[in-house]
Amino acid sequence: ETSTSASGSAQEPAAPLQGAGSVKQQISNLVALSLRATVPEVDVEPIVEVCTGKFGDYQCNNAMGLWSKVKGSGTSFKNPNAIGQAIAKNLPACDVIESASVAGPGFVNIVLSKSWVAKRIQDMLVNGITTWAPILPVKRVVLDFSSPNIAKEMHVGHLRSTIIGDTLARMFEFSNVEVLRRNHVGDWGTQFGMLIEFLFEKFPNWEELGSQAIGDLQVFYKASKQRFDEDAEFKDRAQQAVVRLQGGEEKYRAAWKKICEISRNEFDQVYKLLDVQLEEKGESFYNPYIPQVLEKLSSQGLIEESEGARVIFIQGHQIPLIVVKRDGGFNYASTDLAALWYRLNVEKAEWIIYVTDVGQQQHFDMFFKAARMAGWLPDPKEKKFPKTSHVGFGLVLGADGKRFRTRSTEVVRLGDLLDEAKSRSKSELLQRLTENGKIVDWTDEELEQTSKAVGYGAVKYADLKNNRLTNYTFSFDQMLSDKGNTAVYLQYAHARICSIIRKSNMDVEELKVSGNISLAHPDERVLGLYLIRYAEIVEEACTNLLPSVLCEYLYNLSEMFTRFYTNCQVVGSPEEPSRLLLCEATAVVMRQCFQLLGITPVYKL
Ligand code: ARG
Repeated sequence: ETSTSASGSAQEPAAPLQGAGSVKQQISNLVALSLRATVPEVDVEPIVEVCTGKFGDYQCNNAMGLWSKVKGSGTSFKNPNAIGQAIAKNLPACDVIESASVAGPGFVNIVLSKSWVAKRIQDMLVNGITTWAPILPVKRVVLDFSSPNIAKEMHVGHLRSTIIGDTLARMFEFSNVEVLRRNHVGDWGTQFGMLIEFLFEKFPNWEELGSQAIGDLQVFYKASKQRFDEDAEFKDRAQQAVVRLQGGEEKYRAAWKKICEISRNEFDQVYKLLDVQLEEKGESFYNPYIPQVLEKLSSQGLIEESEGARVIFIQGHQIPLIVVKRDGGFNYASTDLAALWYRLNVEKAEWIIYVTDVGQQQHFDMFFKAARMAGWLPDPKEKKFPKTSHVGFGLVLGADGKRFRTRSTEVVRLGDLLDEAKSRSKSELLQRLTENGKIVDWTDEELEQTSKAVGYGAVKYADLKNNRLTNYTFSFDQMLSDKGNTAVYLQYAHARICSIIRKSNMDVEELKVSGNISLAHPDERVLGLYLIRYAEIVEEACTNLLPSVLCEYLYNLSEMFTRFYTNCQVVGSPEEPSRLLLCEATAVVMRQCFQLLGITPVYKL
């Protein structure tokens, strides 16, 4: 296997990945060596999982599969259990594994060495959590998320896409993958004719308008749509405007730009509130590439004429994928094909990920298949990358079980939603601090920042903790509760750990270097083992594109910490130095989880 260094310097030695990657990756490396020694004649990938039973920490499940490969081939092994025994025996001697035993038909249970676990935690405390980054099999991904439509509502669905996409981006970035965060805004299409004509009509001085001047864009959109539907003469002008815009006529392009700019300003406000970075490459960006991309597909014989439109027939689908409409115009699918071509060939992304509601699954399924037919993507059986994935998510529901809406407006304004979460968390905080007589310890600035972190974090976490495919019910009461699996509960848990550390008279920074972590108590060991699983959790969340995996880990970690803290005295005990380090490590890992979830951790609550 060859390894390419990130810095690209040829001089650098191919460093053995000692200590790099997740614990699971490291155990897998050791198991791979054992497999080579045990059955040199067979080439298999190590199968390593976290142990479900109580006889080990990790387990290797290769023996059974190997048995079915070697039995009857003159092998000296009598049964799968014997292969398991040999795998256990051939594990290289090292400081990682304390012991290995075999159970049942050949499960190899591996017990990690306590001192190795302790050392790994201490290394992380000294050198930073980035040393716990997993190693992923890709270097560059395109993440297409948020992607609202200009002059249409940015609805809760776009909020979900923004939150889920941002978390995925953060997890990949943490894993040293370059992420091209793409906002594929709907900034092109026939609706612009109508919008432009309406702009000319309503605002003859449109060129001088500031970005706030036309007021609410959604109201503007609705009004122009009404005009379009009611007045045939207006409709006519609107349709001509599309042609003139697409023909590149100056005035029409300027008006289009103006509308996009106003829209962009509104979107940017939400991104700023959410602290989300995105680079806009809207549909219009790919428009010039469409003809050549369709030309290529056509020359491969993939595009056919059907009822006046140009289409691609796709196996398993009744209706073909339309790539040129009957009026000769391009559509959502042609744009997505051109964008995919661009992302593969110009941006050279190995994994292209799209975050939208599940309702669009068919669209993605179809154009992914078209790309495979064109040979842009390899057969997944032969090569894993480049590949495309659709990250679908369910609806946001209101308390009535219907699509989420607020009382006053039909559409939910994202800004208002976040504001409400913040003000609710602020009044709860104020009330609690007043009751406890602690209000005097807080500055206004602190109050403000904390309620923002707690409130916004609650909205994000409520979305991320569910399996994204299920619909979820939006409830301020639930997400802002300090009990159960909520961001508020987790913020409290983290702040409590910080306060334990503050209350001790020892200097944690000093301890990181000079102290020693011991995992003598069973609850210390369990906590330590769970801490070092962090990297493989991020790895799993990235591989399966499931932020909920990280949420679950964060919640379990806080529960394990509670058990540890209940059963192991920290401050004032002889073990205080070691246990403080465990507190600190838990706080660091929790903060890093918050960070990846786009939540600002608070240190005092
Ligand atoms: N603008 C679309 C919508 O609001 C989402 C775009 C998703 N990205 C893509 N490449 N199709 O539904």
